[in-house]
Amino acid sequence: MRVPLLAGNWKMHKTVSEAVDLVKALLDGVGAPTDREVLVCPPYTALLAVQPLLEGKPIGLGAQDVFHEVQGAYTGAISPVMLRDIGCTYVIVGHSERRQYFGDDDAAVNRKLHSALAHGLRPIMCVGESKPQRDAGEAESVVVSQIHGGLAEVTAAQMNDVVIAYEPIWAIGTGDTATPDDAQAMHAAIRNVLTELFGDTVSSQVRIQYGGSVKPDNVDDLMAQPDIDGALVGGASLKAEQFLRIVHFQ
Ligand code: PGA
Repeated sequence: MRVPLLAGNWKMHKTVSEAVDLVKALLDGVGAPTDREVLVCPPYTALLAVQPLLEGKPIGLGAQDVFHEVQGAYTGAISPVMLRDIGCTYVIVGHSERRQYFGDDDAAVNRKLHSALAHGLRPIMCVGESKPQRDAGEAESVVVSQIHGGLAEVTAAQMNDVVIAYEPIWAIGTGDTATPDDAQAMHAAIRNVLTELFGDTVSSQVRIQYGGSVKPDNVDDLMAQPDIDGALVGGASLKAEQFLRIVHFQ
């Protein structure tokens, strides 16, 4: 059984005090979920401040990106060892904004993913097509190639710790969600690729989140799809009430 993972990607939002306030509000409302997993990914600058609040609580801590090297002369970079050191258990890799603004290609995503796994972090690897690619009928081939590139040299055993997030770029921050049917179709295609690469047992266990304008009013329909195993939430994760409603999807 795949345990749905509801994750908030706060992106470049929240000062330390705002992050602490949001985490406190989330803890107040999250309850004691047993059939789902909840995660927040604040900016680097707030991780250390919120970590003690989350200790022993039903909300996990993740980072939004990581560099693949462990230490060295890499100005501005943060290593997986540093993230583990401050209590992160997950890290997002390959988000489309990293691909677009910071030049992360599939090879870089693959290096980050391997480094995360090697240092005890669970990677959430994002894939997704642009609007022109979808309009040209290339959505599936783009996503399949990102899966192949990002998961190169990953073993079946390592896949236990990998989460995939399908995030169509045209749906991110636009209010324009993929329909539940379109999202399900892509999730099923991704699971087929995972079956080809790693076999049935592994592919049936890997969680595939949907991301892109997930909101309180569409989360239930998305989560009702058989191959959608959670949500990676941007905008709606910045408001406690909205994120809690998403966490408590029916
Ligand atoms: P959004 O962002 O929910 O604001 O569309 C999702 C994401 O980029 O992870």
